[in-house]
Amino acid sequence: MEQQSIAIDGPSGAGKSTLARLTARDFGIIHVDTGALYRAIGLFVRRRETGSRDGDAIARLLPEIKIALEFDGNGAQRVLLGGEDVSDAIRTPEASRYASDVSALKPVRAFLLGTQRDLAGASDVVMDGRDIGTVVLPSAGVKVFLTASPEVRAERRLLELREKGVETTYGEVLSDIITRDGNDSSRREAPLREADGAVRLDTSELTLPESFEVLRKIIAERLR
Ligand code: DC
Repeated sequence: MEQQSIAIDGPSGAGKSTLARLTARDFGIIHVDTGALYRAIGLFVRRRETGSRDGDAIARLLPEIKIALEFDGNGAQRVLLGGEDVSDAIRTPEASRYASDVSALKPVRAFLLGTQRDLAGASDVVMDGRDIGTVVLPSAGVKVFLTASPEVRAERRLLELREKGVETTYGEVLSDIITRDGNDSSRREAPLREADGAVRLDTSELTLPESFEVLRKIIAERLR
């Protein structure tokens, strides 16, 4: 039987990962956070002291990179890089910058395409990222473009960072978000854009439980 796929795309800080995790739990399926795959490649590249924009050198490293995802019963994902659990190491601000740079490279995107499609071919998944509905799974049963204003995303990200004890300001977080949005939408390879047939969900005015309620309805109606 064909697997069911739910594609959730959108800019950083729109709540994709949290909402995708809740969706996975609710529907009893796997959540694949594809940003973690780009982050793992970024970490590998940094550990090899290779420039994050050195496309040729990075392309030569790719055959050595072994990434695996493990899922627990709650829909949570662990990322293994050459067998080492790097789930926490890929979450630092430096890892974010490396991930952003390597994700603009065509060979990196081609390398991860098969990994992502294999995961969706093996199980029912909710997959979140930037190009899931447009490139990775264009025939997903449900496609959602999740967004929120840059100001709201900055406020949410600031709270998250403060909880982790990271010292930063609203202005810094907002400018980082605006820069990342620009990079993600303007890059040549698989830029962030709304997929054909995607449902747009703007969570600027919604709390997390409200956002999830709307998302659950969108998915349930389309999977029926
Ligand atoms: O969602 P995230 O912040 O963990 O993603 C890390 C980086 O990877 C981010 O700069 C965008 C990029 N990315 C991408 O280009 N395509 C995806 N499907 C997922 C993430």
